Amino acid sequence: MIDIPIQRAATSKPRTPDAALGFGQYFTDHMFLMDFHAGRGWHDARIQPYGPLSLDPAASVLQYAQTLFDGLKAIRGVDGKIRLFRPDRHAARLAHGVERMCMPTIAADIVQQAMTELVKLEHEWVPSSPNTALYLRPTIIGTEPFLGVRPSREFIFFVIASPVGAYYAEGFNPVSIWIEDECVRAPRGGLGAVKAGANYAASLYAADRAKKHGFAQVLWLDAAEHKYLEEVGTMNLFVEIDGVFRTPALEGSILAGVTRSSIITLLRDWGKEVVEGPIAVAEIEDAHARGKLDEVFGTGTAAVISSVGELGHGEKRMVINDKKPGPMALRIFDELTGIQQGRIADTRGWTVTVG
Ligand code: COI
Repeated sequence: MIDIPIQRAATSKPRTPDAALGFGQYFTDHMFLMDFHAGRGWHDARIQPYGPLSLDPAASVLQYAQTLFDGLKAIRGVDGKIRLFRPDRHAARLAHGVERMCMPTIAADIVQQAMTELVKLEHEWVPSSPNTALYLRPTIIGTEPFLGVRPSREFIFFVIASPVGAYYAEGFNPVSIWIEDECVRAPRGGLGAVKAGANYAASLYAADRAKKHGFAQVLWLDAAEHKYLEEVGTMNLFVEIDGVFRTPALEGSILAGVTRSSIITLLRDWGKEVVEGPIAVAEIEDAHARGKLDEVFGTGTAAVISSVGELGHGEKRMVINDKKPGPMALRIFDELTGIQQGRIADTRGWTVTVG
């Protein structure tokens, strides 16, 4: 445990009604910050009023995108208690990701403490309507002003918090997804397995193009052969073919989603078969033609689960489950949000009560 002094904001910002929150548009009164300097290590953990950072224009995050983040939710339960969903997993993912990003080691328990202390201070900002949350965004950025290409020797670790509603404007309505043959999200050996800001920058062009053609997001294929399913939008991907659930294996280009792992556990506990391995586009098209493509859904912290109602690939259009949310997507959503909201017993120790 580290000491985290708190400098309180002089005033509290006005609150937005839960129904108008959207995703990531409003931020609480305070943020956590900690500095790193080579030779000194991480120091000066603190919580201070939320506000802009002062960065040199040559900072490595601005020039070469040396930035890593995570995202998790604090949820107000039906009993009024605030729960974090698997904060240890999120803290560990950030702590592991630093190696790939040439950032200094950071202890997962310091990351978790920082997130927990911020939620404790900002507890009044945790919304209470169903399917709202306080979304936490722990982030590490390189701040050294230097234009040579090498790892920064100065960093900031900060945590900000945003009261959120649904991630997708469509809510739980199934989305139309474009199978992207040309642009890729991340090659094996690239940054795809860590939550690097650059992965999301890389996704913007194809996502924008898909939107112009009436699709909500893209389904990413592997970078080498453009043949195998990888992720959908910013989410991990599951398909159900003839009663068997399949999701791409974590082999270097796919993010190890906390929701992904929770869903694999739930499905197996429910007696379903889950296979982690390659899924070819051709198999999806064949399964659809045979009427065996039961469900396709994306999974992630922000939206939890997002059903795919239609896939577009070239001239082909594949409608899934009559464009209605699939029964398993609904069951998983109910179970996961039930555990998060304290409606369903947390038998696996996934939630941590704060306060
Ligand atoms: C998530 O599904 O939680 C994500 O990673 C999306 C986030 C970048 C907003």
